Amino acid sequence: MNHYRIAVMAGDGIGPEIIPEGLETLQKLAELTGSFQIEVQEFDWGSARYLREGAMMPADGLTILEQGGFEAILLGPVGDPRVPDHITLWGLLLPIRQGLEQYVNLRPMRLLEGVQSPLAGKGPREIDMVCVRENVEGEYAGLGGRVYRGKPEEVAVQTTIFTRKGTERIMRFAFEYARTHGRKKVTSATKSNSMQYNMVFWDDVFKEVARDYPGVTAEQQLIDSLSARFVSKPESLDVIVASNLFGDILSDLGASISGSMGLAPSANLNPERRYPSLFQAIHGSAPDISGKGIANPVATIWSVQMLLDYLGESEAAAMLMRAIETVLREGKVHTPDLGGRSTTREMGEAIRAELGQPLKG
Ligand code: IPM
Ligand code: MN
Repeated sequence: MNHYRIAVMAGDGIGPEIIPEGLETLQKLAELTGSFQIEVQEFDWGSARYLREGAMMPADGLTILEQGGFEAILLGPVGDPRVPDHITLWGLLLPIRQGLEQYVNLRPMRLLEGVQSPLAGKGPREIDMVCVRENVEGEYAGLGGRVYRGKPEEVAVQTTIFTRKGTERIMRFAFEYARTHGRKKVTSATKSNSMQYNMVFWDDVFKEVARDYPGVTAEQQLIDSLSARFVSKPESLDVIVASNLFGDILSDLGASISGSMGLAPSANLNPERRYPSLFQAIHGSAPDISGKGIANPVATIWSVQMLLDYLGESEAAAMLMRAIETVLREGKVHTPDLGGRSTTREMGEAIRAELGQPLKG
């Protein structure tokens, strides 16, 4: 039997409400399939710790994650209205992505049956895309500075970094993903009409890598008109490869046309498996609804599904995806973001009750 160690950080806001739903679901699948065991180690890293101790995580946090024998990390949302977001995010999530070389952020953008897209006339057949977001460099390289603060001479610089290694590997991942998942097309999000250095470089590398994948259609589109295409013709899109910031924006757009931010999962991957990968809902900590028990746990539970897939627990991953799909399709248990009245707990329970049930419909 496989034995996995998972590092868990519930994070901020609604995190402590949704993460337990993800964990219970994971444990239930371990029991049902009998093919693996989960050992969870919880960390109290996050904004409460920052307010108490002045740091989001301990100084050796990355080493703990790297050397603790963890196969994966499950993280809740990060962000608290009492602390500036760039402090919380550069204190926890962004250093983990960079330090553990999780250079791929994989984000399915798929409308599930039973969920209403805000786009008129678009159903599950029209909205089924995957965003492959570069996750450690580009606009999020974290290099820059501010001088002459508050003076008329004040200057702020935020440097965007595109390396050949970083650009090539994300392109290659996108094409490999398409090839191995029966997807037909990779669209590169660019802005090379105005950014004549980094984005023209991005396009060059895209074309070079595309040559190695004759079976996959390669196309590129400027980010502004690509955003419009998400709304007007999502059915014409398949795999999208994007820089860190472009991918961030497109994945929120993709999530909202797929019915709710409360559904969208993500995997921050170190494909070489030298470091543990991190799984997380793409939504934020939602302070407005935190503590009410009504947050949608599906984005977290779907992230757990991606975690299982990553671990190679394909039976459990398939069972879980089916259960999520069934509960959404049947529509009896839906949280308020989906127009229902169910609680976080009820939604998690409904998915777990579906696991191991014979196929319906
Ligand atoms: C995401 C989030 C983060 C990002 C923030 C919280 C830094 O929006 O995972 O999409 O921009 O990557
Ligand atoms: Mn985002």
